[in-house]
Amino acid sequence: MSVLTVEDLVVRYGDTVAVDHVSFRVDEGEIFGLLGPNGAGKSSTIKTIVGLVDFEGKIEVLGKPVGIETKNLIGYVPEEFMLLESLTPLEFFEFVASVRRIGNVEKVEALIRAFGIERFVNKPIATLSMGTKQKVSVISALIHDPPLLILDEPLNGLDARSSRILKELMQRHVEKGGAVLFSTHIMEIAESLCDRIAVINRGRIIAEGTIEELRELASVEGSLEDIFLKLTGQYEGIKEIVDAIS
Ligand SMILES: Nc1ncnc2c1ncn2[C@@H]1O[C@H](COP(=O)(O)OP(=O)(O)OP(=O)(O)O)[C@@H](O)[C@H]1O
Ligand SMILES: [Mg+2]
Repeated sequence: MSVLTVEDLVVRYGDTVAVDHVSFRVDEGEIFGLLGPNGAGKSSTIKTIVGLVDFEGKIEVLGKPVGIETKNLIGYVPEEFMLLESLTPLEFFEFVASVRRIGNVEKVEALIRAFGIERFVNKPIATLSMGTKQKVSVISALIHDPPLLILDEPLNGLDARSSRILKELMQRHVEKGGAVLFSTHIMEIAESLCDRIAVINRGRIIAEGTIEELRELASVEGSLEDIFLKLTGQYEGIKEIVDAIS
């Protein structure tokens, strides 16, 4: 069953077309990766789904058009934290739980322990390190146990243990019938986690499928990094550029 359907999505910022007729769907039980060079349109696509950016086209979450009703169905980790920095993590989690109308304190405590931030939960968020802020952001997206996780470069700044825990939580989430849409620049992570991948370049999806399907499309034997660079036309000339610099 489709958890997320995106059809003919267009995002404009003034005269710039950031997302150009993008369509894809993410089904129950799937981790779907959005890959693309800087400025390709990944975050713009993601922001439309969580209702932060105006768009043309159709977006449905569990059959409902994006809007107030779909907010509770989504857990969102933005590429830049959107935290109330004068609050402590604990206050922020309480705030998120009350907005989402849930009182699942045990879940919050388990997540605090999982990401090892017990020492920081009573300090103002403004005083925390970047990685700890990212952990707060990740926890706040998971508190209400939404069916759809939308994670924009979620492993940014996370240490090895927390990355592992988040990756395992993503896998556990889809095993329970949820769905995950996430963007990353780390090809090894996409390779190990994604059931399907869309490669987006200059606002358009230029390839979509399993890694095997992308490999065939690119006619490349190597890693996902090789496939990605080939598909996005960035494969040639890397050695020459590095040689010229050094
Ligand atoms: N608020 C904005 N106003 C104007 N242009 C924007 C805005 N946000 C993004 N853009 C432009 O839209 C295009 C897509 O940007 P977007 O942030 O979606 O890319 P991305 O794939 O997430 O890149 P990155 O990998 O660097 O995060 C870029 O050309 C960017 O400059
Ligand atoms: Mg981005």
